[in-house]
Amino acid sequence: MRTIRITGTGSALPGRIVTNKELEQMVETSDEWIRERTGIGERHVSVGETVVTLASEAARKALEQAGKRAEEIDLILVATSTPENVFPCTACEVQREIHAEHAAGFDLNAACSGFLFALQTAQAYIQAGIYRTVLVIGVDSMSHMVDWSDRSTCILFGDGAGAVVLRESKGGLFVQAAHSDGAKGDVLTGCSRHRKNWDHPDEAKAAYIQMDGQSVFKFAVRRVPEIVEELLEKARIQKEEISYFFLHQANRRIIEAAAKRTGVDISRFPMNLQEYGNTSAASIPILLDEWNKKGLLKKGDKLVLAGFGAGLSWAGSLLEW
Ligand code: COA
Repeated sequence: MRTIRITGTGSALPGRIVTNKELEQMVETSDEWIRERTGIGERHVSVGETVVTLASEAARKALEQAGKRAEEIDLILVATSTPENVFPCTACEVQREIHAEHAAGFDLNAACSGFLFALQTAQAYIQAGIYRTVLVIGVDSMSHMVDWSDRSTCILFGDGAGAVVLRESKGGLFVQAAHSDGAKGDVLTGCSRHRKNWDHPDEAKAAYIQMDGQSVFKFAVRRVPEIVEELLEKARIQKEEISYFFLHQANRRIIEAAAKRTGVDISRFPMNLQEYGNTSAASIPILLDEWNKKGLLKKGDKLVLAGFGAGLSWAGSLLEW
């Protein structure tokens, strides 16, 4: 059976770092509160960078590591909920930037779960024999979506991009699961900032992220362990065989609770949210790139990746490195 293997990773972050201390000057909050409730210490915010420049930089690095030229890419899939424009899509703009002339490309939006949905779409194309080499990018500029006067949301998010190059592989492992619950979508919303509220100009404020934090927290803590269990069952392997669980980097307490419910030591749940906050679709590929660059991933390692977010949506993949 055809499956996929990640042959290169890359990431890019804006230069401007906003610390919790700096946020103390903007809203009524404290470094101590943010660290205790979320684990976040700072985040990167775009000043000059765009989702296209960040995604292109991450893509170039991933291609370099994979030893591939841009012309060899068959498909570019970009997971984002914060595109610069509704069209052209970010994937086409990245194609232009990196000169991937032979690639097709499109964007996909499943908010913070987007990278996993894109990875699974890539696997389906490869498995169907349609494409052989796919560039999957998760990128978001959440700083454009948050209301910087709302302390309950602005402390959580950051900007960034992560990319992986996927190749067809004979053998190896790739098991996937994805779910959506649109009926509960109201607990986390963000409206397109391009929308003109012709009839209801007051609704323009809905462009910002609106969130019932506790409901989202409970959703994540319940659904992440469930999907991990589902992946393990599908793959017929034990949790002890998994080297690392790369979860969406939203909140340290969510990851700790998921680790506890899964019955796995927290040391196998890599984290970098202290430095980047929640970078939405970018969080998992950025983390994967960091672990890869640190040389912490060995060929044959079995990894679980799991994301969750607005939709509501949650998705996971179990794959072999
Ligand atoms: N600084 C200081 N106080 C804050 C604050 C901040 N940045 N944000 C909220 N508070 C206050 C609240 O106003 C509330 O005050 P009150 O008791 O006087 O009403 C108090 O802190 C507790 O608020 P609460 O919302 O109950 O806190 P919490 O423990 O649930 O933590 C979140 C809030 C947002 C950190 C937490 O709910 C969370 O992380 N949820 C998941 C969000 C998420 O990950 N979303 C993205 C998913 S992809």
